[in-house]
Amino acid sequence: MSRKPTSLFLTFEGIEGCGKSTQIGRLVDRLRAAGRQSLLTREPGGTELGRRLRALLLDPGGASISPIAELLLYVADRAQHLTEIVGPALDRGEVVLCDRYLDATVAYQGYARGLGAERILALHREPPLDLRPDRTILLDLHPTHSLERARLRNADSGADIAEGRFELEDLEFHRRVRQGYLALAAAEPRRIVVVDAAGEPDDVEQRLQTALGDLLPELEAAS
Ligand code: TYD
Repeated sequence: MSRKPTSLFLTFEGIEGCGKSTQIGRLVDRLRAAGRQSLLTREPGGTELGRRLRALLLDPGGASISPIAELLLYVADRAQHLTEIVGPALDRGEVVLCDRYLDATVAYQGYARGLGAERILALHREPPLDLRPDRTILLDLHPTHSLERARLRNADSGADIAEGRFELEDLEFHRRVRQGYLALAAAEPRRIVVVDAAGEPDDVEQRLQTALGDLLPELEAAS
């Protein structure tokens, strides 16, 4: 099969607590209301294998994982996700909204863990891993704001035990993740659009719609 022209592959990135999940949820609701076939998915954890990998990767009390093993588990999650979920949805002509993708691996494992971008990109040169997004939204927020939001959210949902490996990392780690993302955006300004994630969710949503308006004119028409 091959991609239908109506298909779009959009990815969403940012450090923990940047408001990504809220904004993607709003976006998918709007797209569906406008009649666009849309699929909301995420990495890690978009497939059955991925859900098992996610549990391993994000369990703060779990087995120790070396940086290279961690990298390869994220890549394994992605290979399965592209084959089982993302590729078929694009072939059906859908808009695929993916919560984190390759840029997360470069920012977290490449920059923050120090593995370097090059060895990560080298793993993503062959199908199915060579797929690049049509657009990536980077929700940018200062790590002190963002970690505070993430802690409040975890306290509310009781998720701090199961989903906390990176949230336990120090501020310096999240600074490196943010710098990594910003460096990627500077290198690929046409694909990666930086959206200021500070302020009220309605204001962020407005900025996000503007950032996607050329690809999804129905968003602006509906607002
Ligand atoms: P997720 O829970 O989806 O993010 P958030 O906490 O913003 O809702 O992301 C899970 C974690 O996985 C997050 O800390 C980033 C990390 N991650 C990597 O380190 N490398 C990767 O390649 C991906 C996809 C995620």
